[in-house]
Amino acid sequence: MQDKINILEQKIAEAQLGGGTKRVDAQHKKGKMTARERVHFLMDEGTFQEIGMLVTHRSSDFGLQNEKYLGDGVVTGYGNVNGRLIYIFSQDFTVFGGSLSETHAEKICKIMDLAMKNGAPLIGLNDSGGARIQEGVVSLGGYADIFYRNTKASGVIPQLSAIMGPCAGGAVYSPAITDFIMMVENTSYMFVTGPNVVKTVTHEEVTSEELGGAHTHSSKSGVTHFACANELECIQNIKNMLSYMPQNCEELAPQVPYESGNEQRPVLNTIIPQNPNQPYDIREVINATIDADSFLEVHKNFAENIVVGFARIAGRSIGIVANQPAYLAGVLDINASTKAARFVRFCDAFNIPLLTFEDVPGFLPGTDQEWKGIITHGAKLLFAFSEATVPRVTVITRKAYGGAYDVMNSKHIGCDLNFAWPTAEIAVMGAKGAAEIIFKNEINAATNRDDAWKEKENEYNTMFANPYRAAERGFIDEVIKPEDTRAKLISAFKMLENKVDSMPRKKHSNIPL
Ligand code: HXC
Repeated sequence: MQDKINILEQKIAEAQLGGGTKRVDAQHKKGKMTARERVHFLMDEGTFQEIGMLVTHRSSDFGLQNEKYLGDGVVTGYGNVNGRLIYIFSQDFTVFGGSLSETHAEKICKIMDLAMKNGAPLIGLNDSGGARIQEGVVSLGGYADIFYRNTKASGVIPQLSAIMGPCAGGAVYSPAITDFIMMVENTSYMFVTGPNVVKTVTHEEVTSEELGGAHTHSSKSGVTHFACANELECIQNIKNMLSYMPQNCEELAPQVPYESGNEQRPVLNTIIPQNPNQPYDIREVINATIDADSFLEVHKNFAENIVVGFARIAGRSIGIVANQPAYLAGVLDINASTKAARFVRFCDAFNIPLLTFEDVPGFLPGTDQEWKGIITHGAKLLFAFSEATVPRVTVITRKAYGGAYDVMNSKHIGCDLNFAWPTAEIAVMGAKGAAEIIFKNEINAATNRDDAWKEKENEYNTMFANPYRAAERGFIDEVIKPEDTRAKLISAFKMLENKVDSMPRKKHSNIPL
């Protein structure tokens, strides 16, 4: 017996070596951890159970039959993060550059199938040179098998992708389908075609980092939701994210213990500036309303005119969507609409209630936005809110103008409770523009045009730049003092916690993509 156990122990020891000490050292020199080290730091101590440790590739082309590594370049298995089950694959760059072979793909698919059947999140740690070049089409088939499962799992279990090295070519489309992507600064990059091909085709000279590094994708393209300073920060971010999510679409996110106390927040009475055109940071409103230090902002550096992220209120997970007056006056443009729409759909898919803070002057005008399709892209946010059946609450802090009033989780598109602060201005447009249009003749006939315009602007302001017209109609359920916002929201979300609502029966909707 002992000799047989020795053989097993030898194999296990061999598998731990990955592609060998030299390649592991090279990995460390780049500031990167190995696939197993990453799993170790993510999982609760002693909970990781590996599946497929002894798998090897089946290829015999290009001399590959003489080069086999146990595990074939990916560590797969399951275990706990903060006591909750997750499934994981972690690509091992020390084995054929983490490239994806037929068997490597099979291991990932096996884990994905288990995650789906057992209803627990899937975490993918990506560090790979792409398709195993020696294997050709079987590798491409393996990718497609993964994409197919990513798509089927979408909305069933949360799927998080961390990019911790190269992720190029078609390989990018697995993370792209998952719910959230995080990248590590300076050591990871994602692109469909790399700098060499770019140079050949478009004659542009660009580095990997400029083309597809964490900074580029977190701020320019919005492909990644997080840019992490290093791998440990990235792993910590995965843990934090999971704490706001349920295990699957049939469950609720975990609640953290909460002791009620004085819920008044007088600081909220002082945030809105006297001058309605002056900016303020909506994060001040968010942080003063939610449980202390509970805001986990998502997509922070992209489309900064809208702020989205997870938070807790009285210990319960919520998703926040908030216009940001401190950036482009909080206007809705293409990027802001798509950013917020995707976040709303994640929250709705996973039973996370939605809170909207609204201060929006409208959609961004101009040829650039129109020609790039603000009509289609703006509609995504409208559609996402309209479809959402989770508890939904809106607080209008200041401007709620034009179509953006409708879009930003208004009563008319299914919001459950709509609050407004006394500083709210709910109108078709700003008073200056409105006066110019509807009082054009009076203004033109006046001896002093400017005075007449000002007078009409004030008239329009008095009539509409407040929340009371909307409250009279019941479009606003309650006008509240800012300092009472937290208490009102705690009680609103508690009241809504058993909400049941659904969309009409259909195969699926057709969101304007
Ligand atoms: C097989 C690969 C590999 C690959 C790297 N290696 N990529 N083996 N298939 N795709 C091996 C190398 O031979 C090397 O082996 C080891 O991994 C480390 O690679 P290095 O080049 O030494 O590392 P580095 O200098 O850090 O460069 C990393 C890299 C580069 C930028 C990823 O290796 C590279 O450009 N690889 C090819 C990328 C690529 O074109 N992939 C196919 C994309 S198309 P040794 O034995 O020396 O350790 C694609 C299609 C998917 O993925 C489509 C899905 C729909």
